Amino acid sequence: MMKGTIGIFEGDFIGPEIMKEAVKILEAIENKFGHAFEKVYLEASGPAFEKYGTHLPRSSLSMAGKCDAILKGPFGGPPEQLHHPKWSRVEQDAILPLRKHFGLHTNLRETKTIDSLLHLSPLKEDVIKDVDILIVRELISGIYFGEKKERMVDGEREFSDVEAYRESEIRRVAVNAFEFARRRRRKVTLVGKSNVLKSSVLWREVVGDIHQSYRDIVYEYMHVDHASMQLIINPGQFDVILTSNLFGDILSDEASVIPGSIGLHPSASLGDTGFGLYEPIHGSAPGIANRNMANPISAILCVALMLRYSFQLEEEASHIEKSVIGTLDAGYRTQDLFTRRDDPGKLLGTREMGDTIKEFLMKG
Ligand code: IPM
Ligand code: MG
Repeated sequence: MMKGTIGIFEGDFIGPEIMKEAVKILEAIENKFGHAFEKVYLEASGPAFEKYGTHLPRSSLSMAGKCDAILKGPFGGPPEQLHHPKWSRVEQDAILPLRKHFGLHTNLRETKTIDSLLHLSPLKEDVIKDVDILIVRELISGIYFGEKKERMVDGEREFSDVEAYRESEIRRVAVNAFEFARRRRRKVTLVGKSNVLKSSVLWREVVGDIHQSYRDIVYEYMHVDHASMQLIINPGQFDVILTSNLFGDILSDEASVIPGSIGLHPSASLGDTGFGLYEPIHGSAPGIANRNMANPISAILCVALMLRYSFQLEEEASHIEKSVIGTLDAGYRTQDLFTRRDDPGKLLGTREMGDTIKEFLMKG
């Protein structure tokens, strides 16, 4: 029996709706496998700003630090209110500090096609069949965290951001990428822009050196412009893609359209201990909030990643993943996955999708 404490940031708009389904699945796993997780709800983002004047209260950070893992819903406001202080700095004041504070340098984003959803992809079915890519994105350095400046030059404003990487910051995420590749199809593609950027030259040198200790892994380097094209024309060539913070942000959104819906994508952010932060890669979707319409699968798959990486419960993790696939293979759909070829009787709301996955899980 596993015990543990899980911190939960419910997030904004669809956040609480999908996180409720994630907790439903976590509790089903606890019942089925005899585990006991304490759940601690933590405040952040817009509602915390209204209450405390900050997007990430110190108390939430210190309580999060006492947990074994964090489940996080999406943070963020509606597009028409993004200039409002309640929302305007959520990214810089809550999301990035949360990652940085806990040293979560390795962000994992998987793109796997699901056979029963191949028709949803904008790409041709024969191109995307069996695609299974793990993007390993550096998460707490690079241009996101480099020096930011505003100055006047010749009477006009100049704003700048700095892309800087230290060897140690590259090394720790690169080692993780090779380790993951060993448990997969044993290929690592480093993506950078070393024909232009100094920092990418350092990435190539450091990662090339690390490869010497992983001679069983096929290793290659690709420029980011070419990689973004290859992701579309031949995504099946990739196994593990290792890249910097900014390139990983962009390439992971690009990769997420391959299986057809961004609503299927969880992510894990890991540091040097078992502690991890698990969050969907999509946003808070204010347009469909409170209508029982959002797809809870990304949040449910976050629970699977958490059980796998923070609690080493591989059987439980893959049981959740199989239950999700089983539900989709049986034709159940949320509205983002629904097309004319689907059975309208199997179009489900957020709660019903959670219930159906739970049924698969309990009987499986
Ligand atoms: C993501 C998001 C964040 C990022 C934003 C919201 C700061 O796009 O997790 O990919 O750029 O890292
Ligand atoms: Mg992003």
